[in-house]
Amino acid sequence: MASYKNLDLKQLHRLAAALALTLKGRGATIGLTGTLGAGKTTFVQGFAKALGIKKISSPTFVIRHDHRARRSNLYHLDFYRLTKASQLKNLGLMELLGRNNLILIEWVEKFSKIEKLCDIVVTFKIKPGNVRDITIKAN
Ligand SMILES: Nc1ncnc2c1ncn2[C@@H]1O[C@H](COP(=O)(O)OP(=O)(O)O)[C@@H](O)[C@H]1O
Ligand SMILES: [Mg+2]
Repeated sequence: MASYKNLDLKQLHRLAAALALTLKGRGATIGLTGTLGAGKTTFVQGFAKALGIKKISSPTFVIRHDHRARRSNLYHLDFYRLTKASQLKNLGLMELLGRNNLILIEWVEKFSKIEKLCDIVVTFKIKPGNVRDITIKAN
């Protein structure tokens, strides 16, 4: 497990980019956990940008956004609006797993079964002064 304290916006972007470059060309499922506004979507933006993907919006309403990059496919999911495990079926998540896809899932902690499937879980904590504490845990 790695911890990072008091990261500002730029540092959070850099951390996400570094992780993306490490995982590029491989598959990984990454769970993102933390309250509203903690920086999960911001992290996905930094991660995607390092892979040459620019348009990341919050998928809160869409639940799943797909992005094709040259070497890695990135799938951005957000469980915020999901209330029942049965709703997971329609997302096609299982078909994406283990196939050289980079999958980032906001609010993954809502479904412990999915959290357990994650290769990496990133936790976000809001601190005073527009900074965040981040932990990265490999399963
Ligand atoms: N150090 C920081 N890290 C991440 N986001 C920050 C930071 N400081 C300020 N912010 C702002 O906080 C908000 C985080 O929102 P967002 O990434 O959408 O959160 P979440 O997806 O976790 O709900 C953004 O508006 C971002 O600009
Ligand atoms: Mg979000």
